[in-house]
Amino acid sequence: MARGMKALLAGVLGIAAAAGAAGAQGADTGFAALQERGKTAMGVDQYTSTHQFDALPDGGRIELQRDGDDSAGVARIRKHLREIAAAFKSGDFTTPAFVHLREVPGASVMAARRSRITYTFNPLPRGGEVRIVTTDPDALKAIREFMAFQRHDHQAGGMDHDAMKPEPPREQSLAPADTSTPRPGGRMMMGRGMMMGGGMAQMHGDSAFAADMSIVHELLQDHDAITRTVTLLPDGIRTVTESDNPRLAAYIVQHVASMEQRLRDSSVFNVASRTLPTIFQNKDRIRTGIEPTGKGVVLTQTSDDAATVAALQAHAQEVSELAREGMVALMRSVMANGGPMGMAGNGGGAMGMLGGTGHRP
Ligand code: HEM
Repeated sequence: MARGMKALLAGVLGIAAAAGAAGAQGADTGFAALQERGKTAMGVDQYTSTHQFDALPDGGRIELQRDGDDSAGVARIRKHLREIAAAFKSGDFTTPAFVHLREVPGASVMAARRSRITYTFNPLPRGGEVRIVTTDPDALKAIREFMAFQRHDHQAGGMDHDAMKPEPPREQSLAPADTSTPRPGGRMMMGRGMMMGGGMAQMHGDSAFAADMSIVHELLQDHDAITRTVTLLPDGIRTVTESDNPRLAAYIVQHVASMEQRLRDSSVFNVASRTLPTIFQNKDRIRTGIEPTGKGVVLTQTSDDAATVAALQAHAQEVSELAREGMVALMRSVMANGGPMGMAGNGGGAMGMLGGTGHRP
């Protein structure tokens, strides 16, 4: 099983395995689930990486490093931290919301005061850091809340501004309450989907799911090597998705071919999109043309049904966001749909949509 697939599967899709395996196990289970989501978002095993969250007089600092030599892991950490710095700068805090399954304290003020905060990525020997600086008192207070919460939830070390002395990492036995326990000041996003046991592939009952997920993970991981243009046609879309990297070019071709087959077979494949349910439901009204270009594919999809055309066009924009921003865009979409695993009720979230039961208009 490819490492990337494991990460994505165990995280966005298979959180239930950790969360649901033992709802009664409390703190350890909640922490294990958080570790899985962290691995999904950051691309590295959380148990063999070290987080540090410092509240500093002029802001804060997030550090993440691998514990041992792992050049691929170090590269993934640096990429993640760069992407996080850019997302935070634009006021997008959905990745930490995904990892912690709640709005992280301080995040909304940091988003609102974003023009007064600078985020700088710096590489460190086994990972990197994001340095956060502000002179705005409200933003400073929010950054400190954000750091204190992160330190607590990740059981991580870091500098506490009030004490101005380093806090050692917590022992796991001192884990805070299970993430399913509501805490003041934040919106809980745990729902029935989280309590179901088993990984998503298992629940989906689709053996090809893992292979498709593995390819998607590769595309998300190396999204910045993918170029994409979308032309909106009166009755559909024409998209060109390519990469100069032959490995990625092959993944693009495979992904599109496999997704087209899934569409024909009504074998829904979705973790977060609001538009795919309409597309799958109306598959018989879609005409698809796929032309390989040597570096990827040109895809044309048209329909005589207005709602289907709208869904195709909206989905094409979703794919462009995934190609532009990678995992950050996927996390945003997961959270916009009520969190992973169908937490919005009525099949509104990712879980419901994956199973094809979560149709949204
Ligand atoms: C960087 C990441 C991704 C890239 C580059 C990518 C690329 C593409 C492309 C080129 C298409 C053809 C439609 C179009 O061009 O608009 C497509 C369709 C599709 N993708 Fe992805 N994709 C990515 C991630 C995902 C993810 C995360 C999922 C779901 C878990 C997914 C599921 C689908 C499905 C179901 C279709 C078929 C939709 C249709 O035929 O209208 N893709 N993708």
